[in-house]
Amino acid sequence: MSPISQKPLITVAGASSKQGRSVANALLASGRYRVRALTRSKDSPPMRQLAEHGAEVVVAPLALGHQAALTDAMRGSHGAFLMTPPTPPVPPPGQPELALGRELADAAYAAGVQHVVWSGLENVEMRTRGNKWAPHFTEKALVAEHIRTLPLRSSFIYLAFFYSNFLEYYVPRRGADGSLTFAIYLPPDIPMPFVDPLTATGPAVLEVFDHPEKYAGKTLPVIGEILTARQMVDTFVLVSGQKAHYASAYTRDELLQHFPEFGADEYLVRELVGMVEYAVEYGYYSPNRDVEWSRKIDPDALTWEQFLLRTKWQGERVSYGAPAESIQP
Ligand SMILES: NC(=O)c1ccc[n+]([C@@H]2O[C@H](COP(=O)([O-])OP(=O)(O)OC[C@H]3O[C@@H](n4cnc5c(N)ncnc54)[C@H](OP(=O)(O)O)[C@@H]3O)[C@@H](O)[C@H]2O)c1
Repeated sequence: MSPISQKPLITVAGASSKQGRSVANALLASGRYRVRALTRSKDSPPMRQLAEHGAEVVVAPLALGHQAALTDAMRGSHGAFLMTPPTPPVPPPGQPELALGRELADAAYAAGVQHVVWSGLENVEMRTRGNKWAPHFTEKALVAEHIRTLPLRSSFIYLAFFYSNFLEYYVPRRGADGSLTFAIYLPPDIPMPFVDPLTATGPAVLEVFDHPEKYAGKTLPVIGEILTARQMVDTFVLVSGQKAHYASAYTRDELLQHFPEFGADEYLVRELVGMVEYAVEYGYYSPNRDVEWSRKIDPDALTWEQFLLRTKWQGERVSYGAPAESIQP
């Protein structure tokens, strides 16, 4: 193991998030990197835990208008993992996630960071020729385009749908007979990529920082398993021993029937419907992506069954410890 001072320093933006925590923990556990963990609050349980594991915790909000603070926070870093928090969609032409992503990237460049890893998603606007509206995908892709124009090394990870969506946002409802209804935003039998961000993001980003030249300019899907909504419910029944069934929340009407609370934000509804229609009709990933990569470099990436076994989830709502201030998955 190299002396601490010789280890490259990596700044992790959103270090208390599921993704950021995974990255910070994997980098620290490798023994090859120092980690600077950015947060709004040093006192949250995830940040206290990261500090105990050896991260340097620095207050710098993952929010627009903090470019100078973000630049200061990244100074001296060799690399940076950059991401955006869940961001409520706004009517066009507003692009808040693009604005924040650009600010983060520009701050990294101004701070002298040599290698940025950006957590992005596909450009839905471009792939669908404007037929579907999913700004939290498209704006991340536009940030990636901006990063590619900067004179630094860059790599891009594109995470699949999170397993945790069913624990945090689309929580199953228990009926009078005790059985659970999984209202899922996908049709029953269309295979889709899913992942556990809390355990799969770190190994992917560690691999990239360990082999910077190999992954320069690359876009890398991060996937745990490709499976259908019906398979997810069937597996839950087998692992948990509970009764559960699938219900469709795919169409706008079905989504609002099962999750009326989403109806308070018309643009959120439009975005959720646009996102799932995009994934079903065009594919979550562009056809040229290597959907095997993350499972090759991380054979321990959790399948849905392994995720259920490990978390012992029984269908209840779960908080991941750092409050996200919106419900956009
Ligand atoms: N859900 C999915 O299926 C899916 C799939 C692919 C990609 N994504 C993307 O993943 C990202 C979210 O990642 P995640 O789920 O790992 O994040 P997360 O666990 O929800 O954590 C987000 C972090 O951002 C910070 N944060 C939250 N709200 C904030 C605000 N209003 N202002 C400033 N900071 C705020 C918080 O950190 P502090 O409190 O420490 O500051 C929080 O820990 C989103 O961009 C989403 O689009 C989601």
